[in-house]
Amino acid sequence: MMMSHSRGHRAPPGRIAYVGGRYIAHGEASVHIEDRGLQFADSVYEVCAVQGGRVMDEAPHLVRLERSLSELGISMPMVPDALKIVLREVARRNYLRDGFLYLQVTRGEATRDHAATDAMHPLLIVTAKRIDPKAIEKRRAAGVAVVTTPENRWGRCDIKSTALLPNVLAKTDAKKRGAYEAWFVDANGFVTEGSSTNAWIVTADGHAVTRALHDNILPGVTRSVALRAAADVAIEERAFSLEEAYTAREAFLTSATGGVMPVITIDGRKVGEGKPGPVAARLQALYRDLSQKESMA
Ligand code: PDD
Repeated sequence: MMMSHSRGHRAPPGRIAYVGGRYIAHGEASVHIEDRGLQFADSVYEVCAVQGGRVMDEAPHLVRLERSLSELGISMPMVPDALKIVLREVARRNYLRDGFLYLQVTRGEATRDHAATDAMHPLLIVTAKRIDPKAIEKRRAAGVAVVTTPENRWGRCDIKSTALLPNVLAKTDAKKRGAYEAWFVDANGFVTEGSSTNAWIVTADGHAVTRALHDNILPGVTRSVALRAAADVAIEERAFSLEEAYTAREAFLTSATGGVMPVITIDGRKVGEGKPGPVAARLQALYRDLSQKESMA
């Protein structure tokens, strides 16, 4: 990997992280070499968007965090209200108005043994990343490309685990091929989801289609808020094939990092007219309004 091993120079000065109870300079922040997150990917994570200083969709992100942890038998590192305070404090110390908060909970540090025990103490890590919100809006206006890749991930994609190697490989390949995202396609030719986004298409009669949650996908928070917000957009929660996606009227992605993001090509083929479509735009507006209403200042 093209990764640097030296510490301290990756972050701009002044960036602050939270690790295991301490707010610390980003370049100094570290975990133990026997942290189970490092050794086994025995950890879960969340990414929340921050817009104008507000943590967007925070409540459902924390609900999913609790669920992911409980599925793995890792205890919450602190109660949700305390977690919210840490998130705000990391945002505040980083002067974060627009960007993302990344939070990871590992099962903690222990002498290496595959078997986990109840005695382990979870470790909480929070980092902040600034972004230029105009860059996302520019991308939304232009739409993005996706390429497809065989679904090779494990059978519990519903857990937001950090075992992301297939996702990392898929996204790296997508970037190399000039695309923004990769869509996993299962053995039956059905699209499951993106490497870090949920996948949607729009049928000829204008229905927005996205795979059902029981079908081994990550229960996207943006997906669920968009579904609740959908109002006049008709929804079908069902699997769709790659063939159907190729001939769809529109396609789009959802995630905390991009909201509703139009897809204009799949594997180099134009979707519809090859430009962002009205259903994606409508759902983005509905999603944004509901998300803003429900996300506390
Ligand atoms: N990824 N599917 C996968 C595999 C994901 O990793 C994500 C989120 C989503 C969308 O979920 P949400 O709407 O809750 O962001 C779907 C985050 C953004 C990431 O890994 O950066």
